[in-house]
Amino acid sequence: MLIKRTRGWEVPERDATPESVYSRRHVLAAGAGLAAGAIAGDAFAQAPAGDDPTAGLYPAMRNMRYRVERELTEERIATTYNNFYEFGTSKTIWQAAQALKIRPWQVKIEGLVENPRTVDVDDIFKAMRLEERVYRFRCVEAWAMTVPWTGFPLAAFVEWCKPLSAAKYVQMETFSNPAVAPGQRATWYPWPYTEGLSIDEATNELAFIATGIYGKPVPRQHGAPLRLIAPWKYGFKSGKSLVRFVFTDKQPKTFWETLAEKEYGFWANVNPKVPHPRWSQATEELIGKNGQRVPTQIFNGYGDFVASLYTDRQNERLWA
Ligand code: MTE
Repeated sequence: MLIKRTRGWEVPERDATPESVYSRRHVLAAGAGLAAGAIAGDAFAQAPAGDDPTAGLYPAMRNMRYRVERELTEERIATTYNNFYEFGTSKTIWQAAQALKIRPWQVKIEGLVENPRTVDVDDIFKAMRLEERVYRFRCVEAWAMTVPWTGFPLAAFVEWCKPLSAAKYVQMETFSNPAVAPGQRATWYPWPYTEGLSIDEATNELAFIATGIYGKPVPRQHGAPLRLIAPWKYGFKSGKSLVRFVFTDKQPKTFWETLAEKEYGFWANVNPKVPHPRWSQATEELIGKNGQRVPTQIFNGYGDFVASLYTDRQNERLWA
């Protein structure tokens, strides 16, 4: 994503096991009611679940309403090709991110809510029902993956937070801890990483809080223990390792808008016809598929779910 230097594609070519193998095991494991870990044993080991008290909740049943006519991205690729500036600006931060301690993990619910409070992340797990959803994932850098996330609808979490009717947006913030996240020592970035959605976006059925991936707890490099997924928007909207949800009547200023307003807007919906100043959005590279490029779809292919959110917002900067 950045700003200071351009990088080439950094995905190594690997001898990929087709991701259909993962899907087959998952469906079998879920159907047979096998314990979590049954599919993890022979899967890629970079999603350690050992210190995660929620490991027993996976795999969750897949919600078949959300279908993607593409092969899943290989887990090995997805878990080693990340953007998480708190741990560095390269794509290979997965090892550095293991320094993040994910328990205890407190989450603040603030602003225009009936009862502002701080909760333990495990209380959120107790209140939410997990499911798996396969979504397309699209970065503004014009690469794409297809990912099986596990988590819960953001709409269910918003309801649990009991916002007041005056709340029009929800702002989401990542942890702040420069002692473990070396990127946060770079003072030119407006830490903490902040993102936001309007309330109607946040309660759209697609908006999702991911707690897991590939049938396991989400690893730190993907934003453990809670990260947003808004699949019709560019990936930078999906803040990782969230610690604070603020309900507000004002559109929040996000990390990337603060840094480079000309390049990154608040709405950031995927549109092949609106190029980013540094990346054409007409096509996207499917990561891990030998450089294969495919046409980009408006709203990343999710227009049926979300286009109506924007009919009354035509005067706004809806795209990059
Ligand atoms: N969240 C935080 N806290 N820090 C980040 O640097 N990068 C964003 C988003 N969420 C980022 C973040 C960007 S630019 C992208 S494309 C996605 O995370 C990448 O998600 P992934 O690494 O899980 O594929």
